[in-house]
Amino acid sequence: MASTLTVLPSHTPARLVVFVSGSGTNLQALLDACRDPAYGAEVVAVGADRDGIAALDRAAAAGVPTFVHRVKDYPHRADWDRAVRDAAVAYEPDLLISAGFMKLFGAEFLAAFPQRVVNTHPALSPAFPGMLAPRDALEYGVKITGATLFMVSDGIDDGPVIAQRAVPVEDGDDEAGLHERIKIAERAMLVESVGRMARGGWSITDRKVTVP
Ligand code: GAR
Repeated sequence: MASTLTVLPSHTPARLVVFVSGSGTNLQALLDACRDPAYGAEVVAVGADRDGIAALDRAAAAGVPTFVHRVKDYPHRADWDRAVRDAAVAYEPDLLISAGFMKLFGAEFLAAFPQRVVNTHPALSPAFPGMLAPRDALEYGVKITGATLFMVSDGIDDGPVIAQRAVPVEDGDDEAGLHERIKIAERAMLVESVGRMARGGWSITDRKVTVP
C-alpha cells in the first residue's frame, strides 16, 4: 500500500538554504521573492562549492551569510559531504535548494534532510540528466524542452518531480540562447513552487509530489 509522507515547514517564514556554483540568477529570483513578507520564506544562508562566483556576490549584496566548501580541500568526498551537511544544519533549514549547484549531495547529507532537498534542472525530466542538459536537448533534436524542479534522491536528476515548465526549441537556437530561455521559465517555476512549499508544505506518495 502506498504511504504518504507530509512535510510542513517548522518556521514562519520558512527557512531556505540555497546552494550555488555559478551566476546565481535562480538564487536572485528567490532573494527578490523573499523581500515580500507574504511570500512566506527567507533565504537564511547560501552554500557554494567554489569561491569567486557571482552567486556569492548576490548573497552578500542581500546580506545573507555564505559558506564555501571545496571538494578538493577534503581527503574524501564523504568528508566534504559531512562538512556541507554540518554547515547547512546550523541554519535549521526547512527546505534546501540546489539552484545551479554543480555537485551531487552524498548519502549523509541527504539523510540529514529527508524529503527536504530540491534541485532545479534545465530539461524536462527524465530526459537529459546531467550537467549539459540544454546541449544534449539540442543535439537530440527535441522540439520541446524545459525545466524541472524535483526532490533530490541518490540518483542523478531522477527524483520525484515537483513542477515542470515547457520551453519550445526554436530553429537556429544555440546552447547559450536555449539555456537562457529555459532559465526564464525555470526561475518562474522555482519561485512559484518554493513559495507554495514554504506556505503550505508538501506531500509525497510513492513518486507523486503534491504541493497545496
Ligand atoms: C540553471 O539552469 C540550473 O538548472 C542549471 O544551472 C543553471 C544555473 O543558473 N543546473 C544544472 O544544470 C545542474 N544539473 P544560475 O546560476 O544562473 O541560477
